[in-house]
Parts: sequence; structure tokens; C-alpha cells
Amino acid sequence: MPFAAPNFDTVEAYDGSHKIALMRLPGRRKSLAAPQNALASRSSFRMPIVERREFFLPDLDPVHDGLKVAHLTDIHVGRSTPARRVLDAVAKANLFAPDLTVLTGDYLSHHERGLGLLREQFSGLRGSVVAVLGNHDHWVDPGGALSVLQSFGYAVLRNQNTTLSLRGAPFTVVGIDDLVTENHDVPAAFAGAREGSRLVLAHAPRTAELLTGFRASLCLAGHTHGGHVNLPKVTVAIMRRLREHYLAGRFHVEDTQLYVSRGIGGAVMPFRINAPPEVTLITLRSLHPDMRRAA
Ligand SMILES: [Fe+2]
Repeated sequence: MPFAAPNFDTVEAYDGSHKIALMRLPGRRKSLAAPQNALASRSSFRMPIVERREFFLPDLDPVHDGLKVAHLTDIHVGRSTPARRVLDAVAKANLFAPDLTVLTGDYLSHHERGLGLLREQFSGLRGSVVAVLGNHDHWVDPGGALSVLQSFGYAVLRNQNTTLSLRGAPFTVVGIDDLVTENHDVPAAFAGAREGSRLVLAHAPRTAELLTGFRASLCLAGHTHGGHVNLPKVTVAIMRRLREHYLAGRFHVEDTQLYVSRGIGGAVMPFRINAPPEVTLITLRSLHPDMRRAA
């Protein structure tokens, strides 16, 4: 598969700050030579940016045209993610008044004590909330992460699907478990899944390459953190070696639209460069023939 260059349209949607342009303007060499702590101070502890996206889906029930979906991923509670950033992400998602909130994994980082932090920081999301797990959750305590999320009333799908009633019509969410840790089972996730309005959740973006033939028109993912420390050319080269072809933003993988969020937190480093934390607020649009006739 040809390598997909990092998609900077998410960066261009940044809030007008110089913080991203710093790494992209001519004279980049000079910018990169800035003191490391200066770069860190520009990117370290900022609150998540709201990224608004619209997706047109051929199978979306016209009733769901305009449906609002909040997407949060890679929370990584712990010392590399300030609690106020997680709380801010929850508040920004809720302010959107979403019909559906989806979570694509990595709630934990490296230690089981993250379960307590998750319990303290991540409750209260509005709308129907549906989640999948990520590689860090599997490495630390998948059962623990699942039970904390379920204690908030969030549904956790592990190679399963669920059909919700949104705006009075069925809407199916397919949740594929983590590919990095080889817990994914795509056929099981789609087994018996209702067609029509449908959304696929996966932690690892590469999962989208496995969706051919499953009528998955939109897949939301995380995992990459947008490179986390996203140095021009360097990070892309490293991610390519790791087979992470989808760094951040929109991609088309066969018939599937893939969106990769930069996520909220950090598992190792508290600071990010050129990859600010993100809350994604999505509006779904129907390409159903009835809608096309009405247009
Ligand atoms: Fe992550």
C-alpha cells in the first residue's frame, strides 16, 4: 500500500495559534533550533483542541442526517496526562450535546493505579457512550478498564456490535478490539450487525485495512497520537517503519472513510510537538437516495 503522508488538514484547523505554524513555516531550521523547553512550553500542557468534522455516509438513515458524535481517544490517565486536560475533554464533548459519544481505547498507560485515576476523571460523558479497548488497556488490565467504563454506564464492545435507538431509529456501532495486541476479530465484531446507519470503532487505524467487504463506510480510530512528537519527516519515517501509515486526520481505505484522532493524553511524555491533543466533534450526513432527491 502506498504510504499516506500525514494529513495536516487537522493542523490547519488549529485555533489560529502559532504553535503549529512554528514547525511548518519556511525557516523551519531556525524554529527547530529553538530551546527544547521553549518548544515544550508551547505544546506541553495545553487543553484539547476541538476539531469539527463532517462525514457523508451512503447508508446513513435520513433520520440520522445531522447526528452528532463526540469522539475521544487515548486518554492515558497518569502522570503524563494532566487531570485537568481529561476533565476539559469531557466538558468539551458534553458541550456538543452529542447523540452518541465514542471512545477508541488507551484509557490506561502503564500501571494499574490508572484505574483509580480513570474512575476519578472520566465519568459523566453525555449521550449513549460506546467504547473499545486499546493496546495499553490490554497491557495493563483490560478487565479493570472495562469494569470502570461499565460502572459509568459506558458500553464496551470487544469484537461485538450493538444497535442503539438514536433519534427514534436504529443505529449500529461495531467495536473491534485492539489489533496491536492481536485481540481483534473483525468477522466476530460484524456478526449479525444490522445494515443501514452504522459506525465502526477501532483503536489501531490499520484495522481499517481489514474492513473490505463489511460495508463499513466510516471507521474512527486513535493510537498514533498524531505522532505525539511530530517532527517533520522524522516522525513520518519512524511511523512508516512501525507500519503506522495513518498518522492523523482523514483517509480513504478502500470503501472506508477512516478518521484518526490525535487523542487526549500521553503514555510516556507529557509534552507533544506538532500534535496537539484533540476532541473530535463529528456531524454525520446522509447520502441516502431519499436525501439526494430532497436536495
Ligand atoms: Fe495511545
